[in-house]
Amino acid sequence: MTIETNITKMFGIKHPIIAAPMGPFYTHKLAVAVSEAGGLGVLSHVGLSDADPVEEMKKNMEYVVEHTDKPFGFNIRTSRMEPNSEMLCWEIPKFIMANQKIRDQCLYAITSAGSAKTLPNSPNYQKLKENSDIKHFHVAPALWLAEKCVAAGVDGLVVTGGEGGGHQSYEGVSTLVLLQQVHQKFPETPVIACGGFATGEGLAAALSLGAGAVAMGSRFIASKESEFHDTYKNVVPPAKAQDTIMATGVFGPIRLWPNEYALEHKPITSKAEKMAQEATFDVDEIAKTIRAYELAYEGNINDGAVLLGQSIGIIDSIEGVSEIIEKIVNDASASLKKAVSFIK
Ligand SMILES: Cc1cc2nc3c(=O)[nH]c(=O)nc-3n(C[C@H](O)[C@H](O)[C@H](O)COP(=O)(O)O)c2cc1C
Repeated sequence: MTIETNITKMFGIKHPIIAAPMGPFYTHKLAVAVSEAGGLGVLSHVGLSDADPVEEMKKNMEYVVEHTDKPFGFNIRTSRMEPNSEMLCWEIPKFIMANQKIRDQCLYAITSAGSAKTLPNSPNYQKLKENSDIKHFHVAPALWLAEKCVAAGVDGLVVTGGEGGGHQSYEGVSTLVLLQQVHQKFPETPVIACGGFATGEGLAAALSLGAGAVAMGSRFIASKESEFHDTYKNVVPPAKAQDTIMATGVFGPIRLWPNEYALEHKPITSKAEKMAQEATFDVDEIAKTIRAYELAYEGNINDGAVLLGQSIGIIDSIEGVSEIIEKIVNDASASLKKAVSFIK
């Protein structure tokens, strides 16, 4: 069973299912599993402890091509709070250019959390673009940000609504409304729908709303192959959709599981408020935030930042990636056929 869309054709993948990037954590094993299962695996922008994000990205790319011959992608968070983002946009395209196997397989560059221009402004990326099939998508969590991405010349948009896990825009518009807004304004732009997807019915809805694929984060955390700690994974199946709250993260509003850490980091409401807060940050404060991510990754789900989306309410088991993808595609197909049967 396959569902062919503009996105599956663009990347030469079997299924319209993409792994959402989940930095600062490692997702290279998950990326291999998703690509091997016919979706598109994605490497995250790693930023744990003293890890050098550029070197980690290179190592992760080498790992992926050693373990699969299928296409994959990578994420760079181009936020002003990411000191290495420009370096990544400079070094990683150069590294891909110099490695034929990586160049053949690495077809998807997704940037997020900052400017859509940082990657295309890199001469090394331009050179890579001329010499490979790589496509650049940027995360659009609001219509005005989608407009900026299109103006920057992206190949496509990852339209991510407020129900998703991790960082969000200040607007918090739902994926349902945002997809329609973007489709109305940019009907020809390739779209990956993100935020709140975990089932075949969700994929069917996204395709009906003009997207060519869905990207999933929380669903893949709760997979056998993901690198997340078992304690973190085990939060997901019993959780209900209402078991997340908005708090303040490194880049702005963030959706978290409501533990002590989340409750202590009251939600921020505007960029001005966030900038004022950043101005008071010292090195210790930044180190404490990085540590909160590390704690969660190490399995300390009480003191760490446990990023999850509302989709945890529709995930009831930890399964293998290929079973997850097969079920979603089969259910989406049944759902779409049923919907078509309504047309008389
Ligand atoms: C643990 C975690 C880490 C995340 N880190 C990133 C990141 O580094 N870059 C990014 O663009 N999005 C990041 N996100 C957001 C996801 O890419 C995606 O938008 C979100 O998971 C979608 O919602 P879902 O969890 O309902 O699938 C993260 C999400 C989670 C759950």
